[in-house]
Amino acid sequence: MKKVLVAGASGYLGRYVVREFAERGCSVRALVRNPEKLEKEGPNLEPPVADVVDEVVTGDATDPSTLKGACKGVDIVFSCMGLTKPQDNVTSEQIDHLGNRALLEDALANGVKKFIYVSVFNAEKMLDVDVVSAHERFVADLKASGISFTVIRPTGFFSDMGMFFSMARSGHMFLLGDGTNHVNPIHGADLATICVDAVEKDIPEISVGGPDTYTFNETVTLAFEALGKKTWITHVPMWIGDAALFVTGLINKPLAGVMSFAIAVSNLDNVAPARGSRHLKDFYRELAAKKV
Ligand SMILES: NC(=O)c1ccc[n+]([C@@H]2O[C@H](COP(=O)([O-])OP(=O)(O)OC[C@H]3O[C@@H](n4cnc5c(N)ncnc54)[C@H](OP(=O)(O)O)[C@@H]3O)[C@@H](O)[C@H]2O)c1
Repeated sequence: MKKVLVAGASGYLGRYVVREFAERGCSVRALVRNPEKLEKEGPNLEPPVADVVDEVVTGDATDPSTLKGACKGVDIVFSCMGLTKPQDNVTSEQIDHLGNRALLEDALANGVKKFIYVSVFNAEKMLDVDVVSAHERFVADLKASGISFTVIRPTGFFSDMGMFFSMARSGHMFLLGDGTNHVNPIHGADLATICVDAVEKDIPEISVGGPDTYTFNETVTLAFEALGKKTWITHVPMWIGDAALFVTGLINKPLAGVMSFAIAVSNLDNVAPARGSRHLKDFYRELAAKKV
């Protein structure tokens, strides 16, 4: 039986990956900051996983010494540990690059056979965005380390579309730009299958999106439809987004870091090779059926 460390196990993708490894008979060690999070469903219907995790270790990427020993006795490391929401005085460099690098050093010290890492699709077009460049600095470390690896490059997750859904619930949606760029978002469970399949494949990079391609306007319209509400979108010109980002950067750097990724993504077509079978329409329907 393979032993796997999942870093970021309490997050949207991490929970699906934990379940997928467990269902395939692996022994799963979860690396988290807060073990209690594993017991409850997440905000975008991602499942609790405390029941399928064999071992929990706690660590915080902002203090790399807490990650030491996390990989002991492990065959495979999977990491989707990353900064996706603003944290006080914490940068993407600390989590996405240095936190994952500390994990890689521990993996190398403990003879881990393979390291699977989640970066982003279209990274080469967004290297001016802090979170993307931090991901890619880690990818460079990973490639230079000599360990067998796979970098997964997904488009947007359904959890990001969940944010659109929350805004649609309020009855009014602000969308950056004219909303005509395309995206094929992917469900966490579909992506988890691809991440776990990567264990047995000798493929250095996998770009992946979901089965359906939409314009951003269409993703939002679907959310309004699932809620039985009239579509009401106000398009915010990109220059206003950039100006808001500049001002936010002066007063709240962590928030500006997250905003800059959202702005960069809205400005691009994000359509990766289509995989998976789960549809955004159904995800929105499930969210709409959930009590708030
Ligand atoms: N969401 C998307 O659309 C998307 C698209 C492409 C790529 N990605 C990348 O995929 C990865 C996973 O995304 P996700 O949406 O699943 O994110 P998520 O739900 O925010 O999960 C991130 C995970 O990282 C952990 N983490 C954050 N800061 C940490 C720290 N200081 N020490 C230890 N663990 C820490 C979180 O722990 P807590 O639960 O304690 O916060 C959580 O388990 C990220 O690297 C993201 O950049 C995401």
